[in-house]
Amino acid sequence: MSELSVNHLLGIKYLNEDDIQLIFETADHFKEVINRSIKKVPSLRDITIANIFFENSTRTKLSFELAEKRLSADVINFSASQSSVKKGETLIDTVNNILSMKVDMVVMRHPNPGAGIFLSKNVKASIVNAGDGAHEHPTQALLDSFSIREKFGDVAGKNVVIVGDILHSRVALSNIFALKLQGANIKVCGPKTLLPKHIETLGVEVETDLRKALNWCNVANMLRIQNERLDINYFPTTREYTQQFGVNKMLLDSLDKEIVIMHPGPINRGVEITSDVADSKQSIILNQVENGVAIRMAVIYLLASKIK
Ligand code: CP
Repeated sequence: MSELSVNHLLGIKYLNEDDIQLIFETADHFKEVINRSIKKVPSLRDITIANIFFENSTRTKLSFELAEKRLSADVINFSASQSSVKKGETLIDTVNNILSMKVDMVVMRHPNPGAGIFLSKNVKASIVNAGDGAHEHPTQALLDSFSIREKFGDVAGKNVVIVGDILHSRVALSNIFALKLQGANIKVCGPKTLLPKHIETLGVEVETDLRKALNWCNVANMLRIQNERLDINYFPTTREYTQQFGVNKMLLDSLDKEIVIMHPGPINRGVEITSDVADSKQSIILNQVENGVAIRMAVIYLLASKIK
């Protein structure tokens, strides 16, 4: 297969296994490119991309921008807090105005689930979802699986536990879809109040005992509490959450085998993960960030090749 089955990247839910393999093979090439002394290729010299962010971001925003620049695309950045959205302009009007400036692709982060899907139905541009509320974060899931594949050679058959605030996490949902497509075994672990009802219907198992979950897995993907989306208290205190669902070095060293630790960031050190775990040789957190650029180059390159 040489092209994606989709014209937008709105969620992993809309991809198939071949799409993921194509993105990974393309990212393999771009990872080699970004490790050269000259890290840039002319592939997208004729493409203009707008990064529009209605929510805070460090990794995703910079990673997309760098990916676009490494591909030689023209890039414009839009931050909602400094824009005319504050004067009442709608999302569609805002994006159509940006597209009038001859923009080909929009990368959008938005606090509302489904914002990217809505946009893709109402404007004429390729849309990439850079995180929509608690719904999906497809490029994060792709870079997470790519990092597991890099570490183990394959994702199929690996035991992956996703730990923490599953209820409010777009990273968890996109990871579940991506890992299932690739044949991994998945458990989710966290306080019952932060596990969505009927999550088993997605083909994952629930484990509320962190030690058991860690002893089962090859990879633990640690998530932060999504404080910006908590409307009520879901657990008594942060200290008690950390005692039950935080990973520290003593726990890691006491497991039956050596496991790999992942985290999408931003990390809340001392809450879901201690510094000596985040910075340990078992952690591949910064490899995930490096792989994010190659994955986003692959996604943008493959989508752009469908609009040329
Ligand atoms: N992982 C992630 O989405 O991080 P940012 O919110 O910093 O982009």
